[in-house]
Amino acid sequence: MANVAVVGAQWGDEGKGKIVDWLSERAEIVVRFQGGHNAGHTLVVGNIEYKLSLLPSGLVRPGKLSIIGNGVVVDPWALLAEIDTMRAKGLAISPANLKLADNAALILPSHGALDRAREERRGDQKIGTTGRGIGPAYEDKVGRRAVRVCDLADPRALEDRVDDLLLHHNALLRGLDAPEFERAELLARLREIAPKVLPYAAPVWRLLDEARRAGRRILFEGAQGAMLDVDHGTYPYVTSSNTVAGQAAAGSGIAPSAIGFVLGITKAYTTRVGSGPFPTELTDAIGEMLGDRGREFGTVTGRRRRCGWFDAVAVRQAITTAGIDGIALTKLDVLDGFDEIKICTAYRRGGESYDYVPAGTSAQAEIEPVYESAEGWHESTRGARSWADLPATAIKYIRRIEELIGAPVAMLSTSPERDDTVLVRDPFAD
Ligand code: GDP
Ligand code: IMO
Ligand code: MG
Repeated sequence: MANVAVVGAQWGDEGKGKIVDWLSERAEIVVRFQGGHNAGHTLVVGNIEYKLSLLPSGLVRPGKLSIIGNGVVVDPWALLAEIDTMRAKGLAISPANLKLADNAALILPSHGALDRAREERRGDQKIGTTGRGIGPAYEDKVGRRAVRVCDLADPRALEDRVDDLLLHHNALLRGLDAPEFERAELLARLREIAPKVLPYAAPVWRLLDEARRAGRRILFEGAQGAMLDVDHGTYPYVTSSNTVAGQAAAGSGIAPSAIGFVLGITKAYTTRVGSGPFPTELTDAIGEMLGDRGREFGTVTGRRRRCGWFDAVAVRQAITTAGIDGIALTKLDVLDGFDEIKICTAYRRGGESYDYVPAGTSAQAEIEPVYESAEGWHESTRGARSWADLPATAIKYIRRIEELIGAPVAMLSTSPERDDTVLVRDPFAD
């Protein structure tokens, strides 16, 4: 089965949007299966830049069907605003090419308020969330009190769900000294947007099943990255969903066997936005240079991303936990011009050596990277579109990464632009 799942192999922002956009030419359907509008996926097509948060990246190409799966938490106001923004950029978006799972959980304004109030309360210990209510919304989904898309069409269920939610939310908000939410006002706001959201609602698991039976190619678009996975990441400094490829099936209602190839998007160095352990972080001039050259500012919050050398230990672990068959190595061009490039091959803590990311919070905070040195290159790789355009030292760096992480490079990206991409092995052909 030639369907492909794209997942982040680090701490997010690896360039998933660009790669999904490139691959979507070969697919008919693009599906988001987790996360929400905490994601920020950037696509550059000619001189137009699209920054997508909740909408699948397939919307940029005419003739594709985009699906927001049940595993996504959906802020309906953010959804409508993003549709408007993208329409203003010239994209055609209608219920004909965008479907929203009728069983997806909604993010309400009180989720955002809770997220931000908790972060403020944590002070130094804050997770550095995007403040979009992602965590609280997933908690309510698991707590069986979420308002779901289908409830917008069911006045009685909507009232019951809102009552149940506000009972919890207002108790928590009171405890956090934050303003409470009014039932009547929240219901009025939900009733107002219901007719705008419902036309997109559909049992997407059925659409996907039909598509699969008809042999239509499906591309699953992950958000965040394996190290932000709620189980496999650097807990508690993670997002609140599973970001690994296993979630593509559960988060869209399709069999795991429908996914033929998992492509792990991997930056040629490492970045992280928000708090939490980051063994190879560079707080010196090199880190700053990576940030400036890579334009490492958060797409959603505008925060400066923390930068560091490539961490082969973390990526090797992501290859396993996320089920990655091959990687797309992105932002190779950002490494142009360094005399020396370092690669983390193990961690050390006291006298102990680790070849994996330990689970413990203290251990994660205290591990130090063990580096090997690679020779840099002074030629430009920016815009390279074939292997032959790369300097030998860059190829050597790529080969060493493949060896250390135990997965092949299936694609290479050398600039933000859609076509500055090298295809080594077609993920759809597997
Ligand atoms: P995502 O969240 O994984 O989709 O990644 P983001 O869009 O948040 O961040 C990746 C950033 O790097 C975006 O600004 C992209 O336009 C840019 N980008 C993607 N691939 C490349 C590349 O190969 N080289 C350079 N220089 N920039 C890239
Ligand atoms: P894309 O899809 C990078 C980070 C936040 C924070 C943590 C929890 O663009 O790669 P949340 O709001 O999800 O509760 O925040 O996760 N985070 C991301 N970092 N890229 C993302 O998405 C992220 N989505 C969430 O910065 O540290
Ligand atoms: Mg991003």
